Amino acid sequence: MKKLVVLMQAVVISSLLSGMLAVVACAADKPALTVADCDKCHTAAPADIAANGGAHKTSLNCQDCHAGHPPLVKKIIPACSQCHTGKAHYNLSNCLRCHTNPHTPKIIKLTNNITDECLTCHTEQIVKLKQVKSKHSALACTFCHNVHGKVPLCTQCHKPHSPEMTATECKKCHQAHMPTAVYMSANTPNKMCAPCHKRPYETLASSDAKHRNLLCVTCHKDKHKMIPTCQSCHGVPHAAGIMARFTKCSDCHNIAHKLNHWDPGTLDTSDKDAPVPLPKKGARKKK
Ligand code: HEC
Ligand code: HEC
Ligand code: HEC
Ligand code: HEC
Ligand code: HEC
Ligand code: HEC
Ligand code: HEC
Ligand code: HEC
Ligand code: HEC
Ligand code: HEC
Ligand code: HEC
Ligand code: HEC
Repeated sequence: MKKLVVLMQAVVISSLLSGMLAVVACAADKPALTVADCDKCHTAAPADIAANGGAHKTSLNCQDCHAGHPPLVKKIIPACSQCHTGKAHYNLSNCLRCHTNPHTPKIIKLTNNITDECLTCHTEQIVKLKQVKSKHSALACTFCHNVHGKVPLCTQCHKPHSPEMTATECKKCHQAHMPTAVYMSANTPNKMCAPCHKRPYETLASSDAKHRNLLCVTCHKDKHKMIPTCQSCHGVPHAAGIMARFTKCSDCHNIAHKLNHWDPGTLDTSDKDAPVPLPKKGARKKK
């Protein structure tokens, strides 16, 4: 019964329409099919355009894309390339894969295996992914960006190095598209190094020398694993005669994380050429 009604409706519509169009075609003074007529018979397309038509609503009307109507005009579905040409993006195949509905062009559906198509607009990220090979380089863009324009948190896929480390803090050391090239921001707090470097962290924290007040990254700056020389900050602190005999700062000062203390004045540096004695044991302050 329902089928029959549908069939009858279809017959009525098509005869009505072909009559109407036939009349329009041969007698210009009769009413033509206009944009105002479309929603008399079609509901989905007008509703979609009204809700999310974007530029296809504001810059176009139905008939800019659908010129004519069956049965008089058989092919009224436009190719996107009819209007969109001249950019790499417009040379992709099967536009409706992503822009699934031409009446809602900005609503884009992405599968999780897309990379090449993204490169028609974004080039910076692939350069990084290729320059610094990591396990991220093998992933598709949409493995992480499955909704266009959305940026995931690292912690969606990874555990932080310590429970108190938050998702926004990953950026202090990592970049998403070159995650293994670890560069430290200049304000990275010492506790962020602690999960992996417990001993240096605790040694420095328990030291009473002034280095304790410095950030790890003030010395180990920029690229991870960088080790500074003492001279890069202190220049030449002692007379040449001293340094001629004791080539390493550590001969007297121990390590940077736990400096020795010396009472001032225990070194006689007045005679630049005199052999320099080591400070006497008793000169060393008690810790
Ligand atoms: C009187 C009812 C009626 C009106 C008014 C009408 N259509 Fe249709 N339209 C139909 C029917 C019925 C079909 C299916 C025809 C067919 O497949 O042969 C159809 C099919 C279509 C198709 C699909 C064609 C295809 O190749 O798949 C498009 C696009 C379309 N109409 C657009 C429009 C536009 C744009 C307007 C307004 C300018 C409009 N229609 C006005 C009844 C109507
Ligand atoms: C930017 C061009 C464009 C505009 C503007 C446009 N359409 Fe379409 N329309 C298309 C394309 C392309 C298809 C084919 C979609 C497909 O193959 O899935 C289509 C399909 C259709 C269809 C058949 C499939 C369906 O969704 O039922 C109808 C009916 C239709 N359009 C009606 C309209 C009406 C009515 C308007 C105005 C309110 C309109 N279209 C505006 C490009 C457009
Ligand atoms: C009749 C011409 C015409 C056709 C056919 C057409 N478009 Fe458009 N489209 C436009 C115009 C005009 C604009 C607005 C200016 C621009 O972005 O170039 C536009 C804008 C868009 C936008 C941006 C929408 C926004 O709101 O910013 C997308 C996406 C788009 N079109 C996709 C498509 C796809 C996919 C197809 C094929 C299914 C298609 N267009 C077919 C004319 C057309
Ligand atoms: C792999 C998915 C995908 C395919 C395939 C695709 N697009 Fe797009 N398109 C996008 C994304 C993502 C955007 C960006 C949307 C935004 O800026 O919000 C976009 C934006 C657009 C825009 C608006 C911005 C601009 O630069 O003009 C137009 C027009 C457009 N696409 C047309 C097309 C056409 C035509 C085709 C087929 C030749 C096509 N698209 C194929 C994903 C796709
Ligand atoms: C037609 C061009 C176009 C295509 C194709 C395209 N995008 Fe975009 N994308 C844009 C534009 C335009 C923006 C907004 C730019 C902005 O805000 O700086 C954007 C924004 C983004 C953002 C958010 C940027 C931010 O700063 O928050 C991400 C992530 C993104 N796109 C990923 C992708 C991925 C992944 C693909 C492939 C599926 C893709 N895009 C395809 C044009 C495109
Ligand atoms: C959508 C999931 C996802 C997101 C989001 C994500 N990753 Fe990954 N990441 C992976 C996968 C999958 C691997 C490979 C794991 C494996 O094979 O063991 C990986 C590997 C890594 C590696 C090791 C790379 C190597 O070559 O050894 C680092 C470092 C990393 N991710 C850091 C990050 C950081 C930092 C962020 C945020 C900026 C992030 N990831 C966001 C999925 C993700
Ligand atoms: C392992 C997950 C992952 C992969 C794979 C990935 N991204 Fe991202 N992307 C992210 C994360 C996380 C951010 C946020 C970075 C931030 O906030 O600093 C991001 C940011 C972006 C942005 C915003 C601007 C920027 O560079 O920070 C764009 C655009 C973007 N990605 C595009 C792409 C493209 C294109 C691809 C493929 C060539 C891709 N992404 C691959 C996780 C990923
Ligand atoms: C203080 C700097 C720093 C911060 C902050 C940081 N990381 Fe790392 N991360 C590193 C270093 C350094 C490595 C590399 C260790 C190596 O060479 O083996 C690493 C390695 C990784 C790896 C590779 C596997 C592993 O555990 O060795 C993943 C995944 C990772 N980080 C995710 C994250 C996430 C997620 C965040 C944010 C919650 C984050 N990182 C915050 C410095 C940091
Ligand atoms: C995710 C763990 C992780 C984090 C977080 C981390 N590192 Fe490392 N770091 C390592 C690993 C693994 C090595 C390599 C150890 C080796 O080669 O013996 C290393 C090596 C180093 C080295 C070189 C050691 C040597 O003997 O040459 C320095 C310096 C260093 N890290 C400083 C830091 C600083 C400063 C921070 C905090 C800003 C930090 N690291 C954060 C894992 C980490
Ligand atoms: C990144 C720069 C930097 C590096 C590298 C550095 N220092 Fe320092 N050092 C400082 C600063 C800053 C102070 C504190 C100065 C002040 O407060 O007067 C300091 C203080 C000292 C002091 C006085 C300690 C005290 O508690 O009175 C000695 C001794 C010293 N440094 C020796 C060294 C030695 C030895 C090395 C190499 C193992 C070294 N420094 C590496 C920046 C640095
Ligand atoms: C004043 C500069 C300075 C500060 C601050 C500093 N370091 Fe160092 N670090 C050095 C120097 C110089 C070396 C090389 C050994 C030496 O001469 O003391 C070193 C060596 C290391 C090493 C490799 C040797 C080892 O002890 O395992 C690691 C790892 C390290 N530092 C991590 C850290 C961490 C983590 C912090 C913060 C808690 C930190 N450093 C703070 C200067 C510094
Ligand atoms: C022969 C032992 C010896 C050697 C080698 C040595 N120092 Fe010293 N240094 C001392 C003594 C003793 C003092 C004075 C004690 C004091 O001021 O705390 C001193 C003082 C310093 C001070 C000033 C501390 C302050 O509070 O003003 C700095 C900085 C310093 N040394 C850095 C270095 C550096 C860098 C090297 C390697 C290039 C080095 N020293 C080599 C013994 C030595």
